[in-house]
Amino acid sequence: MKQIVVFASGSGSNFQAIIDATESGRIDAKISGLITNRSGIKALQRAKKHNIPIRILSPNDFYSTQDYEQQLITQVTDWNPDLIVLAGYLKKIPDNLVSLFPNKIINIHPSLLPKYGGKGFYGMRVHKAVIQAKEKESGCTVHFVDAEYDRGDIIAQEKVPVLPDDQPEDLARRVLTREHQLLPEIISKILNQ
Ligand code: GRF
Repeated sequence: MKQIVVFASGSGSNFQAIIDATESGRIDAKISGLITNRSGIKALQRAKKHNIPIRILSPNDFYSTQDYEQQLITQVTDWNPDLIVLAGYLKKIPDNLVSLFPNKIINIHPSLLPKYGGKGFYGMRVHKAVIQAKEKESGCTVHFVDAEYDRGDIIAQEKVPVLPDDQPEDLARRVLTREHQLLPEIISKILNQ
């Protein structure tokens, strides 16, 4: 059976969408582990509830970047993933991990990239910027991860309207609902290729 490793730093609602899809058979694969850089996040509770192995690895807990990266690479390699999914992971993926898994790392971003992507565009900041710019539509993007933030090849996008009275929270909710549909669908497509 194919194996997925998920990286998450927060609530993990996309992680949950992946869990649900593997359990219902919409994704024919197993989640072999969750990597996070933070303890006390909801994503960890979700992993525990579904008996998914967890590894908490933060660069701050290591004397050197090299030690951190080595541990990260060892853990990910041990879990032997066919696909690595960044589902709300806020740390940069080290270049040497990216080069070990070419075209096997994907990310979901809550905007229509290349707009509103790159360093500093995360969470509510993305939706605030979209509303401030008076965009008529926004959405989400699944893309391959390369050495630069949010710049790898785009795999798929889903659009949502931006409504006249939208607050960033409203738009975030609308986009997130689409993310939960798009991400499992794309994971399944990639794994079946
Ligand atoms: C999502 O909006 C995703 O696009 C972005 O981070 C957020 C994660 O949300 N990369 P969640 O933790 O999956 O609920």
